[in-house]
Amino acid sequence: MPETVAAGLPRHIAIIMDGNGRWAQQRYMPRAFGHREGAEGVRRTVAACAELGVPYLTLFAFSSENWKRPVEEVDDLMWLLRSYLLREVNELNRQQVRIGFIGDRSALAPDLVTLITTTEMQTLHNDRLVFTIALNYGGQNDIIAAAQELAREAVAGHILPEDINPESFASKLMTSGLPDPDLIIRTSGEQRLSNFMLWQAAYSELIFIDTLWPDFSRQTLEQAIDMFSRRERRFGAATRSQT
Ligand code: IPE
Ligand code: IPE
Ligand code: MG
Repeated sequence: MPETVAAGLPRHIAIIMDGNGRWAQQRYMPRAFGHREGAEGVRRTVAACAELGVPYLTLFAFSSENWKRPVEEVDDLMWLLRSYLLREVNELNRQQVRIGFIGDRSALAPDLVTLITTTEMQTLHNDRLVFTIALNYGGQNDIIAAAQELAREAVAGHILPEDINPESFASKLMTSGLPDPDLIIRTSGEQRLSNFMLWQAAYSELIFIDTLWPDFSRQTLEQAIDMFSRRERRFGAATRSQT
């Protein structure tokens, strides 16, 4: 797995891709138009991370709450994902990108689950960029599923309640194997996590930008990385200037 990263570069960038609907609305177009343009933003961002040497990228594509949207919009999003995966798999292999998914697959259409699993297997050997798509993902569900698994192990007598610690807990989360995000970017001006990576975001640097997701470019990404590189991460310790 990619482990080394250039100084100032986040090891793991996670992005809450927001603003597709407003981007379309500004153009008097249906929301689906914004989502389609958003898929181009995904292509640009994956390519930029691979080229810049960011080893882990996670994109929030569909939250566990997004089922509240009209069924037509949900269908549009799921079809866009199908077409993205079918069209991009060769390019992902060329760029040596390994794709993976987090989120609850049980509510997804069976053909989409098959496509997801196939694409994961087809790109499994790549080690330049680990690209994770959060699909039907919710941070609270992630934590609950981990708690349930640990509770089952305790009831079965395999562990004691005292054995549960941050490391063992994190190992049961859907993100197990991924480092926590160093940088979480949210586009479109909203300043909230909307149930994204609640545990994993404990010490992430948060950057909120006004750009709507379809306008997100390599330059926007580089600006966010530059802001990140100037932040002082303390993880609870005293400031560096005072030690
Ligand atoms: C982000 O754009 C895409 C998803 C959440 C799936 P939105 O669809 O949320 O766009 P806005 O927030 O309505 O502009
Ligand atoms: C968060 O965006 C989910 C994704 C980006 C997939 P939303 O647009 O669903 O979030 P809220 O509803 O504005 O909080
Ligand atoms: Mg939104």
